[in-house]
Parts: sequence; structure tokens; C-alpha cells
Amino acid sequence: MAAIGTDGLRERIQDGIEDLSKLTDDAFVGWGRVVFSEPYRVARDWVRRRMVEAGLETRIDASGNIVGRLQGEGAAKPIVTGSHTDTVVGGGRFDGVVGVLAAIEVARLVRESGQRLHHDLLVVDFLGEEANEFGVSCIGSRSVAGLLAADQLERRDLAGRRLGDVMESFGLDVGGSLSSAWGRGSLHAFVELHVEQGPLLERQHKSIGVVTAIAGIERLTAVFAGRADHAGTMPMTERLDALTAAAEAIVTIEREGCGAPVHAVTTTGRIESTPGSFNVIPERAQIWAELRSIESSWLTGARRRLAEQLAADAAARGVGVDLEWLSDQDPVPTDQSIQGAIGRAADMHGLAWTAVPSGAGHDAAHMAHMGPMGMIFVPSAGGRSHCPQEWTELADIASGVEVLLSTITDLDATSTVARV
Ligand code: HGY
Ligand code: MN
Ligand code: MN
Repeated sequence: MAAIGTDGLRERIQDGIEDLSKLTDDAFVGWGRVVFSEPYRVARDWVRRRMVEAGLETRIDASGNIVGRLQGEGAAKPIVTGSHTDTVVGGGRFDGVVGVLAAIEVARLVRESGQRLHHDLLVVDFLGEEANEFGVSCIGSRSVAGLLAADQLERRDLAGRRLGDVMESFGLDVGGSLSSAWGRGSLHAFVELHVEQGPLLERQHKSIGVVTAIAGIERLTAVFAGRADHAGTMPMTERLDALTAAAEAIVTIEREGCGAPVHAVTTTGRIESTPGSFNVIPERAQIWAELRSIESSWLTGARRRLAEQLAADAAARGVGVDLEWLSDQDPVPTDQSIQGAIGRAADMHGLAWTAVPSGAGHDAAHMAHMGPMGMIFVPSAGGRSHCPQEWTELADIASGVEVLLSTITDLDATSTVARV
């Protein structure tokens, strides 16, 4: 395929980031466009219009994803690229957004070049990628991978709303989300552009990251049951203090991550306790935590060690503990032939690149169930993300789009992307 021009690319990416940055929930510091919120609905409408402007046929699929299609010459399986536009609470402007804008731009540039890919190109804004109060992340990509389970639709948020009901009131086809898998082997390839959300590329002065694997995520919620008593009269040795037991668990969870012999991290993101008064010994506490690693064996071992240690420590305090594990996703290696295509694309554009694991989770991890998957990273300033300080230079994003475009045309010319 002849070289494809990129005129106007930077301006459109800049405009897109600015436009989407305005679609946020002002209740939060930073950018908040959480799944099923009104700003999220408005942002999805913006994305769909952008896809139409780029000349794509668009639809909302049964999984709730926005799908744009650029028709190819009729090769059997589509190439897919995309990401997400929902954010964490108080997040940034680039996580997910860069991959959606890039995907639309690649399709636009191919169409405007007048050339045709062999394969259809599908451009996707996946529904609800971020972790949410229902405990079900990557809703849209999980659904197309056939991994969304009926019991997950029964999960409730902190306000007691049922996920299935919220999806329905958002206008989605809830029943269809459980039966709209695209099928194993249904994709020629899936490639996602994303900001690194870590410090490696910036520290190594690289413009492009060729992702080697996406970390697995195990999520945990633990409820500690103690006994309310007078804080002034109950002797220290006779207390059943749920909050202190939870605090000890948080430190145990941190220690598990710090002591890991492989790339692994552990985080407790939230703690709650009742009754929450100065002068009452807490009778109940709850924590929400997660473990991540690209090594399955470490995740399995850490789950076992923490289950044992948290139970033993709580028992030593006479406090009950109930653990619920919410396995989010397994570690997923990227496809080595796509790694090679990304490296060749970066070389062709004269961009320094390096291999990098992803500690962050992505829709790509679920798309790997349907075909060869790869990811391209661009640098995050200071390695920061999931915070208002999240930043990636426009020049780096434009480089990422060019590498995504060249990778896709490379894969398009390959009859079968060998899964290695
Ligand atoms: O949590 C993650 O790793 C991703 O940002 N959803
Ligand atoms: Mn993301
Ligand atoms: Mn994120």
C-alpha cells in the first residue's frame, strides 16, 4: 500500500482531546466521565459523530460498544482497533481517549487516501473499560469476548443499583450483551494505542512502547466484623476493633506487593468503617484492594497467602473477616508477530522504541480471546495517570497514530497473522 498522508492529523487529535476534555463531571477535581454518567453519554455521542465525519458506518453493538466500520476488499476477518472514553473519578484527559481518537484517525486517513485495505477495519469505543462500583470492568470488550456472565449483571453499586438495570436505563441491550460474542478466531488482528501510564518510556527516552504483556488483575473486598464498645472504657486487650484489623490487612497487602520477586503491585484503594465516631470502637470495616502481575503463578500464590494471613490476623484480634475475590482478568501476553509489526513501523518512522509490560489493564486483554492482539504505548509525562496531572505530548500521540497506521497496513498485507 502506498504511503498514506497524515495532513491535519495533529490538529484533529488536539481538537478531539480538547472537545472530550469539556465533557466531564464538574463534581470531581480533574476529569470524571464515569461509565453510565451523563457526561459519558454525551461523549459517546461525540465519538459517534466523529466516526461519521471520518466516513465510517457506525452502530452501537449488542455489547454497548460504538463500532465504526471502514469496508475493505472483502478479506474474511476484520482488523480491529480502539479503546475507551470512560474515565476513573478525577482522572486525566488521555487514558483511553488517545486510542479512540487514533483509531478514528487511522480509518479516516486510509479512506481519504483512496486506497482500500484487504480487511474491514473496525474502530471501537468500548463500553465501560474502567473499574466501577459494580466490580465489572471492560464491560463492552468482555461482552464481545463472550466473557460477560449473567451473575455480573446482578452486581450492585454502593447505591444498590443493579448493573443490568443501569445498562438498560442507559439504552443498552442487556440480554444481547450476554450473547453477542464475536467468536474465537473471528479477528485478523486487534491493535490498541494507549498512553503508557507508567514512567519507563520517558525515563528511557523512547517514543514508542511495544507492549509485551498485559497484567492480570485480582480484586478483593474484605469485610471485618468486630464489636462496638465505649472507646473510653473498654480495655485495649478486650477490644474487637474492626477498623484496626482492616488497617493491619492493608499493610499486609502492601507487604505482599513490595516483596514480590516479579513485576507485581498491590493496592488498597478504599476503606470504610462504622459507626465512624471518635468515641465508639468500630464494629465493622470494609476494604477494597487489588493485586496485579504479568505472572499468573504469583497472582495465584498471593491470593492464597493473603487469604490465610488476613484470616489469621483477624482471628488473633477476635474479629471476623469475610473475603470476596473478584477476578478481573488473567495476564495476557501480546502476539509476537504483532510486536514485530509495531517495531518495524516504529523503525520506519525513525522512532526509538522499547519493549514494555503493561501494569494497566486494557480492553486488548479481552480482545486477545478472538485473535492476535498487540498494543502500542506512547510516553506519559512523569509516568502519571488516573489523575488530573496525566499528560502526553501531542507530538508523541501523533507518532503513536502513525505507528498504529503503519502497523495496521502491515498486518493487512499479511494473509494470516500467526499467533505465536
Ligand atoms: O485499571 C486499569 O488498569 C485500567 O486503567 N482500567
Ligand atoms: Mn485505559
Ligand atoms: Mn484507566
